[in-house]
Amino acid sequence: MKQQLEEIKLHALAALDAADSPAALEELRVKLLGKKGELTAVLKQMGKLSPEERPVMGQIANAVRAEIEAKLEECKASIGAKVLEAKLAAEAIDVTIPGEEVEMGHQHPMNMVLQEVKDIFVGMGYTVVDGPEVEYAANNFTRLNIEEGHPSRDRSDTFYFTDDDSILLRTQTSSMQIRFMENNQPPLCMLAPGRVFRKDEADATHSPMFHQIEGLVVAEDITMGNLKDVLITIMQRIYGHDAQVRFRPHHFPFTEPSCEMDMQCHKCHGTGEVDGKVCSTCHGEGWIELLGAGMVHPVVLENCGIDSTKYSGFAFGMGLERMAMGRLRINDLRLIFDNDMRFLNQF
Ligand code: PHE
Repeated sequence: MKQQLEEIKLHALAALDAADSPAALEELRVKLLGKKGELTAVLKQMGKLSPEERPVMGQIANAVRAEIEAKLEECKASIGAKVLEAKLAAEAIDVTIPGEEVEMGHQHPMNMVLQEVKDIFVGMGYTVVDGPEVEYAANNFTRLNIEEGHPSRDRSDTFYFTDDDSILLRTQTSSMQIRFMENNQPPLCMLAPGRVFRKDEADATHSPMFHQIEGLVVAEDITMGNLKDVLITIMQRIYGHDAQVRFRPHHFPFTEPSCEMDMQCHKCHGTGEVDGKVCSTCHGEGWIELLGAGMVHPVVLENCGIDSTKYSGFAFGMGLERMAMGRLRINDLRLIFDNDMRFLNQF
């Protein structure tokens, strides 16, 4: 029996030395010291011993048990330390490794130009306002003095929502003139940028959705001279003091007199030709139409409850994409909407 205990001890100490995880240790503990363990099995045979032998064996058995328990504790501590060490090594953070670079976005080129335009007008005292893209035909057409049957009201030009053609996607930001004058009394200065929609085929200078910036000034003694001054000022601020612009007479039902303003084409510099071919940006015109403008028609003032004998005003509506094209030297309007990163990252 003594022999047996000695073997268990030697075997146990070697097995504990070899254990390499807390789970393996626990398994050994059960196997060696548990109720069905090897040591218990030997102790159960104590009954067969003579009374003289029993205390001697008991003592040896206890010593073996104590030794195994001590070894078990020792192994537990050293394995615990190893596990902790391995965990720390695996989770180590090297704070000296350079970080991953986060790519910063930037504004869309068109927004950059919009911001510039807004800043200039805010500096001149204009209030910037926002309005709905889904609009009443009354605000988009009727109250702007655009009669029934006018070609711009045609279903082939305008997106309508209702069978009676009373609600539509606004075709111009001029609807904001009505909304603003309805709620504000002169003197007033308003700027209203926003999206407009027309059933246009897309080409280098057209898109079915584009942006306009509407401007409106109504006060006493406002003249066409004020209108030209504001428009020339803004063009020079944006395109530089040598910016070439021209005014042409035009017709709009809601302004009288009316005009359009063109900017010299930035691609062909007004010649209409590039390398002996017709300039694709201005279609050979040498000029790019930037905006429509004029003196607010008295009928429109009266439609909004403003006394047209006391007040006069001017209005303009400029195409933001075309402004951006000239400002950033973009040759095709479709690039602005394509969202091609190779294009956008140039700005
Ligand atoms: N709304 C006109 C257009 O879209 C532009 C315009 C605005 C003309 C204001 C005169 C006054 O063409």
